[in-house]
Parts: sequence; C-alpha cells; structure tokens
Amino acid sequence: MRVIVERDLDGVSRTAAQFVATLVRRKPTCVLGLATGSTPLGMYAELVRLHREERLDFSRVVTFNLDEYVGLDASHPQSYRTFMQRNLFDHLNIDHRNTHVPDGRALDFDVYCERYERMIRDEGGVDLQVLGIGTDGHIAFNEPGSSLGSRTRLKTLTNETIRDNARFFGSEADVPRLAITMGVGTILESRQCLLLASGEHKAKAIRDTVEGPVTAQVTASALQLHRDVITVVDEEAGRLLERRSYYREVEQAQTLLRSGRFGQAQ
Ligand code: PGA
Repeated sequence: MRVIVERDLDGVSRTAAQFVATLVRRKPTCVLGLATGSTPLGMYAELVRLHREERLDFSRVVTFNLDEYVGLDASHPQSYRTFMQRNLFDHLNIDHRNTHVPDGRALDFDVYCERYERMIRDEGGVDLQVLGIGTDGHIAFNEPGSSLGSRTRLKTLTNETIRDNARFFGSEADVPRLAITMGVGTILESRQCLLLASGEHKAKAIRDTVEGPVTAQVTASALQLHRDVITVVDEEAGRLLERRSYYREVEQAQTLLRSGRFGQAQ
C-alpha cells in the first residue's frame, strides 16, 4: 500500500484529484468508482476546476457510486444522488446516463443489487475506486463485521455511523437505518483504490487500516489484500502511523526515480 501524507485536506484534495485526472487523460473512457461524504468534496472541487480551466474531459467517463441510503428518493436533499449532482456531476460535461448511484427506492433489493454488480461488470469493472473511511473503519457502508467477500447488498448502519452522519440530517432520528452498498469484495475487484482521510478523528481508523491486522472488524483493512492502493491522508489523520517516516522516504525515492535522479541522490 502506498501512503502519502499531505499537510492538510487541501493537499489531500489536490493530490487525489491529480490521480483521477491522470487516469481520465490516459483513458477517457475510464470507469470511476466514487464516494460521498465530507472528505472527497475538495477533490471534486479540484476536478471541476480542472474541467473548467484545463478542459479535463468527462464526456465518455462512466461512474459508479459506492452506496445510497435506503428509503431516500434520488431527489431527496440528503440522497447521495443529490450530493453527487450538486458537488460534481452538474459541473462537468459528464453524460448523466453514464453516472450510476444505487437506487435507495428499488422495489426488489436482491434483484437490484445483482443488477448493480452486473452493470459494473458490463462496463469492464472499476478502474479507480475513490474511498473515504468511517471512524469505525468502514469503507462504503461496510460496517464492522461485514464479510470481506461481500457484494452489493443492504447493510444496517451502526450507531457510530448514524451519529457521524446526523450532522447532514439535523438529528440522529432522521438518518436512515439501512443503506445499499457495494461490498468489500466488490471494492477489492477495482483495479486501483484511492483511500482518502482527513482529521484527527480518522487517525485510529487509518492506523488500523494501514498497519493493523486484516480484519472484518475494520473493513478498510481488507485493502491490504489489494495490489494497488494509494492512501492519501493529512498530518492529523496520519498521526498514529508508526511508519510515517518510511512512507515519506518511499515517496521521495519515487519522486527521484520519476525524475531520473535516483542514482545521483545516493
Ligand atoms: P466523511 O465520511 O468523508 O464524511 O468523513 C467518510 C465515510 O463515512 O465513509
């Protein structure tokens, strides 16, 4: 796992947006896996800027979001579809038909979840999956105890997640109890993962994810089994990482390698 420690959330956002933008330029028909939450907001703003100022072209990009609350209509102000429209899709030249967010009002969830998995497969799989992380170590809504082989399905949210997300709804009572979410197994099939975290409250989840054992109690730790994960955190979220200085050395060596100056530095 590559670990990049940036000074603050701005740095995380810019670095993360560069990974996405590089892929979109290299493969204009790429499939992006997208996440909601506070963490990727700055990255989305930077992608919008790159689209406006540098003509980053999303016209053939396909997207799949990780999750959606059960019971919320797409037009609900707190639905993840609304979040994506407001913060990203409405500001890009992306084809609405190429953007997929799970349907929180599906009539038959079993059938719908299988169809979501099939749609991802039919598009050739996710090239780059953007991920946030919960304070309980979840990725998407794969709460502690989720099978590490899980596929898209319904999950019951933990009280911790409901508390964390109440700030968007006004009160805990208004937060839906269920969500439809890609599984850990679904996420592990993407070609590359980009895990983002910011803030002191994420420090323990990040340490457990990067340096702890692989366990269903911290579903993000399953990313240790993936061959291509880039974790981008700010100083606060990376505070408890024991091998921070090593991760920095790795990044410095990578920079030298890319510039062809590695030998001279030795
Ligand atoms: P956040 O949410 O980005 O709003 O902190 C992350 C998550 O719960 O996955």
